[in-house]
Amino acid sequence: MDNFINKIIQGNYADIMQQFDNKVIDLTITSPPYDDLRNYKGYVFPFEKIVQELYRITKQGGVVVWIVADATINASETGTSFKQALYFKETGFNLHDTMIFRKKNPIPQIYRKRYANEFEYMFIFSKGVVKTHNPILVDCMHAGLELNETTYKNYSKNEQVREKLAKPVKEKKIKGNIWEYVVGKKQEDQEAKGHPAPFPCELVKDHILSWTNCGDIVLDPMIGSGTTARVACELHRNYIGIDISHEYCNMARQRVKRIERQPTIMFQEETTPIIRLVSEE
Ligand SMILES: C[S@@+](CC[C@H](N)C(=O)[O-])C[C@H]1O[C@@H](n2cnc3c(N)ncnc32)[C@H](O)[C@@H]1O
Repeated sequence: MDNFINKIIQGNYADIMQQFDNKVIDLTITSPPYDDLRNYKGYVFPFEKIVQELYRITKQGGVVVWIVADATINASETGTSFKQALYFKETGFNLHDTMIFRKKNPIPQIYRKRYANEFEYMFIFSKGVVKTHNPILVDCMHAGLELNETTYKNYSKNEQVREKLAKPVKEKKIKGNIWEYVVGKKQEDQEAKGHPAPFPCELVKDHILSWTNCGDIVLDPMIGSGTTARVACELHRNYIGIDISHEYCNMARQRVKRIERQPTIMFQEETTPIIRLVSEE
């Protein structure tokens, strides 16, 4: 495995991933070229192969963040994202959460008898029960208030029982599962100009902090402009990036090079959670 750690590797992920050992990856965050929406120089994308390999190489309790949306063809959305999610489940993954990546500045659309498309799915798959969750916390709107008779639903139980809310209302709560980002405007995101669909760095940061600890291994088998590797490096995680395009691999390497602090390879347990406090806008 050492040959792959902290490297951007050019090739078809199907060929590269099959060389990985079993159960080595803590987190995969990736976005496939869905529904031929963009032109990635005609590369094909063997979907079933990647899911099977991801299951094999993911550690028990590890997570895959799969960011995807659907094309609209002949007046109907393809539903590819849901089909893919169900295939992950068939392969053995838990569908841990279905999250939404909402774009604060979506590409304007011409009117086509539908509302402007401004989100993508972020399916969170886990191999068994998630082993690491460092939740992002936000301010509670009613912090300190004594709310009599207020109840909440406990969704983790089969029967959704209404339970009394602790009084007074806490200062912080776990952030919701709709995450909003401005796309392509920040300096760190401008570095990816030239790639048709880079992730916002902030989105990758939030997932890496949530699902890994320092020294963990983060994979992106379709790394594109290198966002996942760049952010992993910044956060002292180890990364592995794969892309079929020579040009994108070079772009990814350049972006990682700009991050001065190199991650230390640490495979021993480091359990102190990093809890980042942010305020909701
Ligand atoms: C949606 S883009 C990923 C963008 C990336 N998340 C970023 O932040 O720049 C998908 C990438 O998959 C790559 N790709 C397509 N088929 C591939 C394959 N079979 N193996 C490896 N990479 C592939 C494309 O070259 C493209 O860069």
